[in-house]
Amino acid sequence: MDKLLITGGNTLQGELRICGAKNAALPILAASLLCSDSVKICNLPHLKDITTMIELFGSMGIRLLIDDKMNLEVCANTILHLSAPYHLVKTMRASILVLGPLLSHYGEAEVALPGGCAIGNRPVDLHIRGLEAMGANITIENGYIRAQAKKLHGAHIFMDSITVTGTENLMMAATLAEGTTIIENAAREPEIYDLANCLIKMGAKIKGHGTSTITITGVPRLHNTHYTVMPDRIEASTYLIAAAATRGKVKVKDVQPEYLEAVLLKLKEAGAVIRCGDNWVELDMQGKRPQAINIETAPYPAIATDVQAQFCALNAVAKGTSRIKETIFENRFMHCQEMQRMGADIHLEGNTAIIHGVESLNAAPVRATDLRASASLVIAGLVAKGTTEIDHIHHMDRGYACIEENIAMLGGSIQRISA
Ligand code: UD1
Repeated sequence: MDKLLITGGNTLQGELRICGAKNAALPILAASLLCSDSVKICNLPHLKDITTMIELFGSMGIRLLIDDKMNLEVCANTILHLSAPYHLVKTMRASILVLGPLLSHYGEAEVALPGGCAIGNRPVDLHIRGLEAMGANITIENGYIRAQAKKLHGAHIFMDSITVTGTENLMMAATLAEGTTIIENAAREPEIYDLANCLIKMGAKIKGHGTSTITITGVPRLHNTHYTVMPDRIEASTYLIAAAATRGKVKVKDVQPEYLEAVLLKLKEAGAVIRCGDNWVELDMQGKRPQAINIETAPYPAIATDVQAQFCALNAVAKGTSRIKETIFENRFMHCQEMQRMGADIHLEGNTAIIHGVESLNAAPVRATDLRASASLVIAGLVAKGTTEIDHIHHMDRGYACIEENIAMLGGSIQRISA
């Protein structure tokens, strides 16, 4: 298993380009199952989760054409199996996104139940209940969700709690349903907006995406399109937070600054000088140590749970005491225990981490426990004295393309070794 070695102490400086958003690319790939024509998807990030989705499509018999720039053409009309097997779903929960499109287009689908994961319980009951409201007959047997419906129909769905992939699954399913579906208490994440725009380009009738009420009027079929995936706001945020923690100056390019607003406000509060252009953001700490900042994660437009761990690393070396409250996932503080091993002064009280910033961390062998935890440990390594060894970095490869190259380009000392 590969490991990362990071020698801390360098200030990150320079510019980098941000990739396509993993969390938009995955549902957009799933959306291609809604039509029999070919769908061309551009700006896909070079990530393990994307290759897992490609592998899943391959296992269904779907023909895929991919070029060296990761532009992918999906021809779903070659599909043979309407099934997502456990060995793929267990490595990537977002495989659940094929449930709605397969059911809606082909009248049946079988998807392994994702089960729990390191950051919490993560049920899919709201996906299932929404599809049932649209007329699906769903059973759960032998660890698989088995869904059937001759034709889904429109429904008025109230989501008990806000779910990103749940909203996406139901929105996709509704595009080919008979009649109108209204999803209330829908998630408002920019990735949902991007997916809706792709579906609209395929001929879907969707209104209200980006708000908490989405209205979808079913159409008989969707057609071919080509679509460019939006930039990854979590990847951009991660590099900006890393720059702030190392007291550096970094410009991220190919981003949509409007989707980074909550993170940028927090970074300003930490003492950063921020400049934005149409598609870039520059952060400058002017060599200063960051101020501690309080964070509470919540659905968009608030601070995303996917940047909570990175902010923990920043606060671990900030001036003052901060509180970080995690409201989305119940077990998303495992990075804190690893940072404690590096000398971070963090105390957990239920869903809140209380962090007393220290001047610097000390290198230690640490273990990445999930995707964003791995990014936070990279940041912790960059601000630690000595060489930190991060194990289990396969989590990081699920969501960060070329992180060693990018960090090294910005002046960080980082090396991947095969153990
Ligand atoms: C998506 C993102 C993930 C991010 C998360 C929260 C993708 C591929 N992944 O995950 O990176 O961390 O949103 O922003 O886009 N819940 C239920 N029942 C359900 C579904 C969800 O109770 O049927 C709960 C979950 O346990 C969790 C909360 O709702 O507490 C939010 O989860 P959800 O938005 O569904 O996360 P994902 O869509 O899996």
